[in-house]
Amino acid sequence: MTATTSFSYRLDDWRGGHRTQPQEFAYWIEDITGTIPADLTGTLFRNGPGRLDRGGQKYHHPFDGDGMINQVSFREGRAFYRNRYVQTPEFQAEQRANKILYRGVFGTLKPGGWFNNIFDLRLKNIANTNVIYWGGKLLALWEAAPPYRLDPQTLDTLGLDNLGGLVPNGQGFSAHPRIDPQGFLVNFGVQTEPNSQINLYEFDQSWQLVRQQEHPINGFAFLHDFIVTENYYIFFQNPVNFNPLPYVLGWTGAAQCLQFDREQPTRILVIPRRGGAVRVFLTDPCFVFHHANGYEQGNELVLDSICYSHFPTIDQQTDYQTIDFASLPSGQLRRFRVNLTTHRVTNTLLLERCCEFPQVHPQRVGRAYQRVYLGVAADPVANAPLQGIMALDVPTGRQKLWLAGSRGFVSEPVFVPRGEAEDQGWLITFVYNAARQCSDIVILDAADVTPVATLHLHHHIPYGLHGSFTPVLFDA
Ligand SMILES: [Fe+2]
Repeated sequence: MTATTSFSYRLDDWRGGHRTQPQEFAYWIEDITGTIPADLTGTLFRNGPGRLDRGGQKYHHPFDGDGMINQVSFREGRAFYRNRYVQTPEFQAEQRANKILYRGVFGTLKPGGWFNNIFDLRLKNIANTNVIYWGGKLLALWEAAPPYRLDPQTLDTLGLDNLGGLVPNGQGFSAHPRIDPQGFLVNFGVQTEPNSQINLYEFDQSWQLVRQQEHPINGFAFLHDFIVTENYYIFFQNPVNFNPLPYVLGWTGAAQCLQFDREQPTRILVIPRRGGAVRVFLTDPCFVFHHANGYEQGNELVLDSICYSHFPTIDQQTDYQTIDFASLPSGQLRRFRVNLTTHRVTNTLLLERCCEFPQVHPQRVGRAYQRVYLGVAADPVANAPLQGIMALDVPTGRQKLWLAGSRGFVSEPVFVPRGEAEDQGWLITFVYNAARQCSDIVILDAADVTPVATLHLHHHIPYGLHGSFTPVLFDA
């Protein structure tokens, strides 16, 4: 792969990264371009859909894919790779049957038409969205259910973990926990029964609960991510309505029942970490999955989020593998300023280029910061697949960009710190290399966003979602 400044991609190339990877591997990576830094020590875990079809039937959306954990262990300039599926009972039943037995939230239906799907509202815990190592536990996360615990050495599935009874079956635990720099894991879950509410949890490094809150929510809440500052939890409640009838009748997935309401504002929910009522601030309608970061500045909150002009969805008749990217809104980084005294909310565009998967230095989470790392499109304007990694200096707008080439498609860049400075570290991303029809793991120096090593796997890994790095080493 070469770095260029402008190119177009082929949809057929992009599609190649959406093939199921049925095999599980474990091996030392030998085919390496460049040099793995000798002082890069620890383990990268990354989750994402590994299976995208079953019994000859394609899943309707990659977000319905079964969770597969990738592990890359770095030690003394070498790297060990392993991947394993999360062995949920639902996944195992479908493996045995070689047939889709559960509907997917994002539109995957069981074979047999509506008659075979009507009133079947069971959820398959696909455990596919994120994976974190915290307090001695490796957890695969999917926001609509409790986490699955895995063995960090072997990736064996140990079972559902309800966190000491805090998150019983039927309740959610978000796939976007935030690690407060003071050493707490902070997360939320959305509960829909008997009424909608946000459950908030803070754990210390022994998984002892140090704070817990519950707040009812007005209206439908599609909450995927949040921001945690020194004093607040902050959510963006997207202006969507949910009409579940087509889902209940077996015509569509639940996600196709979400309707973006351009007439309604986005509600910014601000909840004091040390207790107190939810405050609601209104801003222009937009749709947000991910927040880059946020912090407090005087009586203002500064919130940087990836905004879509409306909900980027795929209808039930469309095959996502033939999607016209131009027909979907692109994610753009915006800065919101919320004045806690006057209630005034402003927002400005920080990055026009299509972007996703923001990351900051872990010491800057919830604190004033300058630098954000993102997966970005090669085209500076159009909506397109992510083919580059960018460092954006927010105060100056200065950009450093690495492109994976016209046949390379990137994933989330995981920031691995090697010091206190915001540019002191590495970015590790999985790249689907369509020329080889295999995946590469690219390590970039975060300071100038240039590759220091490319690790060539001898197989492909489907596009993933989120991951994390721990300095704890687990390897062969
Ligand atoms: Fe996410």
